Amino acid sequence: MFYFEPARGISVKEAVGRVAAESSNGTWSETLYGSLPHIRKIRGRAFEIKGDYVKIAYPIELFELGSIPQLMSSVAGNIFGMKAINNLKLLDIEFSRKYIKSFRGPQFGINGIRKFMKIYNRPLTCTVPKPKLGMNIIEYCDAAYKIWKGGVDIVKTDENMTSQKFINFYKNTEKMLNIRNKVEKETGERKTFLANVTSETKEMLKRAKFVADNGGEFVMIDFLTAGFAGFQTLRDECQDLGLAIHVHRAFHAAFTRNPKHGVSMLTLAKLSRLVGGDTLHIGTVIGKLVGKKDEVLMIEHEIEHQVEPHFMTKQHVLNQKWDNIKPVLPVSSGGLHPLLVSQIIKMLGNDIMVQCGGGVLGHPSGIEAGAMALRQAMDATSNNISLKEYAKTHIELKVALGKWGFSRPI
Ligand code: 3PG
Ligand code: 3PG
Ligand code: MG
Repeated sequence: MFYFEPARGISVKEAVGRVAAESSNGTWSETLYGSLPHIRKIRGRAFEIKGDYVKIAYPIELFELGSIPQLMSSVAGNIFGMKAINNLKLLDIEFSRKYIKSFRGPQFGINGIRKFMKIYNRPLTCTVPKPKLGMNIIEYCDAAYKIWKGGVDIVKTDENMTSQKFINFYKNTEKMLNIRNKVEKETGERKTFLANVTSETKEMLKRAKFVADNGGEFVMIDFLTAGFAGFQTLRDECQDLGLAIHVHRAFHAAFTRNPKHGVSMLTLAKLSRLVGGDTLHIGTVIGKLVGKKDEVLMIEHEIEHQVEPHFMTKQHVLNQKWDNIKPVLPVSSGGLHPLLVSQIIKMLGNDIMVQCGGGVLGHPSGIEAGAMALRQAMDATSNNISLKEYAKTHIELKVALGKWGFSRPI
């Protein structure tokens, strides 16, 4: 499904015809000598136009099964640059059963993650050590220790921290996983580390193997900057290594933010589920990054359910049957602090990972207190106690309330 605006002098019919042709097996000239009947038979067909929206059907023969790069070169390729179209946005793709079957989807999904984290009844908590770049291994690991010790379940790497001069991926990961083991013993709780393996593909695989060899459960990838090919290769490798994949969406807004042109986040979220990300950043509505409530909820539904009828008629989305593809755990992150936790859970439900970076590391009483405040907010919300009420008897939450109140960052 596309939103489209024809260029001046181009009719609606011609515009959608051009989109259907260029994204399947046609081109700009209407007649082609090589267009024999069996080739014309598999062309893309615009079959429904409603106002500025068009649905195009593509025969499965046009696609190489199990390849997101090939899919995107077709339905999200040349068409965005055509002069015949002023604006074009790919809003959704409904995948056929045969196409879905050519992908693995998440290895763990929501239930699998809950099982190895041994957390069944509440959302998961996560913190990214900040400042996002510049800490050395000792500083980074010290922050992580305090985050875990304070009661947060997961420490995540920031999207642009991979292996820089100040922090080597291998040395840091080894130390982080040792500290993780220590904190687990001290607290009696399961903890995990999302090691960002994003890099050139072969290096990503090497890093993933290192995580597995050192007892980690999770790798993290910036799937859009790494690219779909790298993501797919990593997914396959993680099957053998038994690793879950955390998916960060840095770069998405370059093509999702403009409502009239580009690719929707919904489409990207579906691709991430298809390939097999176990978790995915979907937005916060109330945090620092753009993403309206309807859109965030729609994405959440799409990645969590097995059958997705387009439940919100306001949105231009298609039906989807996910068959055996597991549900993805949505991640809400970007500008959150402990006092926003109950609003997030109210909106997005229990099956969610809530991440506070600045909202933990910015706590006036220090990192561990920040982590405690986040956990307190989570515990209060899970027990249906208002955060204001809980803060009366929990000093860390009280201090956080004093600093941030219920403010929403810009
Ligand atoms: C390309 O890949 O560059 C296009 O398919 C060009 O095709 P055209 O010459 O028919 O526009
Ligand atoms: C992320 O990668 O999700 C961000 O680093 C979030 O950081 P913040 O909680 O400080 O906004
Ligand atoms: Mg970040």
